[in-house]
Amino acid sequence: MEGTCSVVIFGAAGNLARLKLLPSLYQLDIKDRMPDGMVVICFGRIEMPQEAWTAEVEQMIREKYGSDVNEMVLARFLKRVVYFLGDHGEAESFTNLYQLFKNTHDYPKNIVFYMSIRPADFGIVVAHLGKAGLLDEQNGWRRVVIEKPFGYDLLSAQALQCALDKHLKEKQIYRIDHYLGKGTVQNVLVARFANLMLEPLWNREHIDHVQITHSEQLGVGGRASYYDGAGALRDMIQSHLMQLLALVAMEPPANMNPESLRDEKVKVLKSVRSIPHNAVHAHSFRGQYASGTINGEAVDGYLEEPDVPPDSTTETYAAIKLYIDNWRWKGVPFYLRTGKRLAEGSSAISVRFKEPPHHLFRNTQVERAKPNWFLFGIQPHECMKVEMQAKVPGLEMKTRTISLNASFTGEDETSSDAYEELLLDVMNGDHSLFLRYDEVEWAWRIVDPIIKVWSTERDFINVYPAGSWGPRGTYRLFERDDQFWRHGLDLESADLGDSLSRSRGINDIR
Ligand code: BG6
Repeated sequence: MEGTCSVVIFGAAGNLARLKLLPSLYQLDIKDRMPDGMVVICFGRIEMPQEAWTAEVEQMIREKYGSDVNEMVLARFLKRVVYFLGDHGEAESFTNLYQLFKNTHDYPKNIVFYMSIRPADFGIVVAHLGKAGLLDEQNGWRRVVIEKPFGYDLLSAQALQCALDKHLKEKQIYRIDHYLGKGTVQNVLVARFANLMLEPLWNREHIDHVQITHSEQLGVGGRASYYDGAGALRDMIQSHLMQLLALVAMEPPANMNPESLRDEKVKVLKSVRSIPHNAVHAHSFRGQYASGTINGEAVDGYLEEPDVPPDSTTETYAAIKLYIDNWRWKGVPFYLRTGKRLAEGSSAISVRFKEPPHHLFRNTQVERAKPNWFLFGIQPHECMKVEMQAKVPGLEMKTRTISLNASFTGEDETSSDAYEELLLDVMNGDHSLFLRYDEVEWAWRIVDPIIKVWSTERDFINVYPAGSWGPRGTYRLFERDDQFWRHGLDLESADLGDSLSRSRGINDIR
């Protein structure tokens, strides 16, 4: 069956499969992107009849889409879903899976294997697949999607890569970073390279600094068993935020070929100045949420979350400062920041420009013009925003900041979930939005010194109240006094985050 494939999901009963993968596959079915005959094999270790699993998947989709469910497509989609009882730690389950494919002639022979399982099990499952003959491409292609985190640090990433190399060729591996499937993230490339306006300004001559922020109101929820061993630096910065940094800072690729794109990203990561052991504290800051209030409701602190060890010092907030030592960016700080249980849930890239070289308005009421900002809103609103100074109407020479704000989506357009786009790319064999191994390795090299120092400091961590903007003192990362965290896309939040709170002596807390 040409052009179609079977998708096998390991960890089908887990959160990622329930909340993202199965709903995204259903969406692809709605958009007619699932070829005829395609099946989704859900590999799980709980014994249950097929009808019970079908009912569960139906419930997942109904819960997510409510009254928007397309009944006809849902019925079609549910027929594609097959439950397969297996334990991904046992070789026999893989022999059974092999037999299933051998004996079921109407299952497409091209297969995507999706690792929606504990990172520690990636290598084990690939080894089982290999030994059972399931990675053999004589009878159709085989592609393996590896979720993040790819490794736990540089050494473990290298070890995982060696384990994969024994059974897979690089072209069969799809290392996913779902941020690359987000519309705005791809728009960073379009904004930079499909327009002429920005490029002449996009360098150390004009840019003061760049901030990349991902903040969440959610806590760790039921994910502590994974999260407590990872922390915010590994969970978000090494992967998603480092990818955003690479896209913001890279040179134009020779063409849109996946390798050209990835070559340019790697060049950026290679140019990031390494952080010496004794400079780790000057370049990084971590914190953990204590109890607090989110949207008017009292929420627990990290240590009270289920399965979190009572003495855990895992960071739920991390901020770092990096420099890219190349011709374009030398001397421009890049501040990367993420946290759970913060005041707002949003992701944005904020680029601050330098001040004009000469203060022409010095002797007027314009005491000090505010700098220009260029912002990419990633979520919840996908937009681009430019902030400029304009004269206030009236007789006096006063200015105020105005913003040119463009949403990426029209009123009648909805953006699709990142996983939809990425699953489709895997089916089409397009690697552009997936990570090559060297990208992962260079990203680990950047954060490894911080990981090493933090791992030795296990008896203390700064805390911040849930619902605030993070721990006190993170402003220490800034190079100069006039730099400040930009909280969200609004001007008000930018101003509050800055000088007001600092002069009140409460730093970044709102
Ligand atoms: C995941 C992290 O990769 O990304 C989570 O493991 C985080 O901790 C999530 O919450 C954020 O993704 P998104 O798409 O909600 O911004």
